[in-house]
Amino acid sequence: MQKQLLQCLFFLLLSLSFFSSFSSLAFSLNQNRQFNEAKNYEGSSDLVDLRYHMGPVLASPMNLYIIWYGHWNPTHQSTIRDFIYSLSSQAPYPSVSDWWRTVRFYTDQTGSNITGNIILSGESFDSSYSHGSYLSRLDIQSIINTAVTNSNHRALPLNPHNGLYLVLTSSDVRVQDFCRAVCGFHYFTFPTIVGVTVPYAWVGYSGSQCPGMCAYPFAWPDYSKMPPPGAGGVGGGNVMRPPNGDAGVDGMISVLAHELAEVSSNPLVNAWYAGEDPTAPTEIADLCMGVYGSGGGGGYVGKVYKGSRGVGYNVNGVKGRKFMIQWVWNPVRRRCFGPNALD
Ligand SMILES: *[C@@H]1O[C@H](CO)[C@@H](O)[C@H](O)[C@H]1NC(C)=O
Repeated sequence: MQKQLLQCLFFLLLSLSFFSSFSSLAFSLNQNRQFNEAKNYEGSSDLVDLRYHMGPVLASPMNLYIIWYGHWNPTHQSTIRDFIYSLSSQAPYPSVSDWWRTVRFYTDQTGSNITGNIILSGESFDSSYSHGSYLSRLDIQSIINTAVTNSNHRALPLNPHNGLYLVLTSSDVRVQDFCRAVCGFHYFTFPTIVGVTVPYAWVGYSGSQCPGMCAYPFAWPDYSKMPPPGAGGVGGGNVMRPPNGDAGVDGMISVLAHELAEVSSNPLVNAWYAGEDPTAPTEIADLCMGVYGSGGGGGYVGKVYKGSRGVGYNVNGVKGRKFMIQWVWNPVRRRCFGPNALD
């Protein structure tokens, strides 16, 4: 009884603190409305109070480790890997690595810029759903712990110096707040769960659970009944087609880009963010949600490219890939920016 009560209290405290303290790509109803309202920082804004709070940024070359949780379609895995390879590879302008240049403008107090090297250094496959198919936010850390302590030879290294862990959950995995408040989040591990503090991000595959919420602009909220205004123009139909053939995975890549930009500029949630409240920071990608090209915001994706068969994209990647990823805040220009900008 007492234990139950304690547990209750514990979970209450946890949910209170975690609900507010995780730095998330939030698509709450409120923020969904952001697509339709005039919150558009694509034009320069002096109202944005993005500031540096003295903590570290990811300045060393990073080793990225992916943990594939659940059952993954190999085609989707290749798309995601190619996006990660594209971060530090050459591709025709405007490329994913050109997009990452904006992220690299952020520095720490030693003057070191965010790294241009994010190397996919290991993958682990949790296809037996080690923590079930309904995950709390904290379970994501336990999944990382499982991946680095697995007794078999496929365990990932636990790399506290320059490791970055990425947990990707498959279509059948439900995650606390996924599809209701968030599409992904980033945070750092607790030594009590993982043994060390390392930055990590989680992104869920939204293709079947909530494409309207997390696969913008390839899908849109059911209640809106209409595609985002910018989507209609591409391809002549009503829909902007995903450049890699799957709204879920192409939407996930924009969420992943968002989280990578933010975990790099605010890995311990004490570096770059706007607002006074560190438990609800507005980070460099939060400021540009829904903006993919010049003029974007307020429900219009902005000026992007139209590929064959109506696919929409704004950057090039390795192996001839195209991706559609949201812009991030450029601290020098003081506006949202991407390499496909017209000015
Ligand atoms: C590092 O950041 C500074 C300040 O934003 C910027 O002027 C410089 O161009 C950046 N260097 C690189 C390599 O991005």
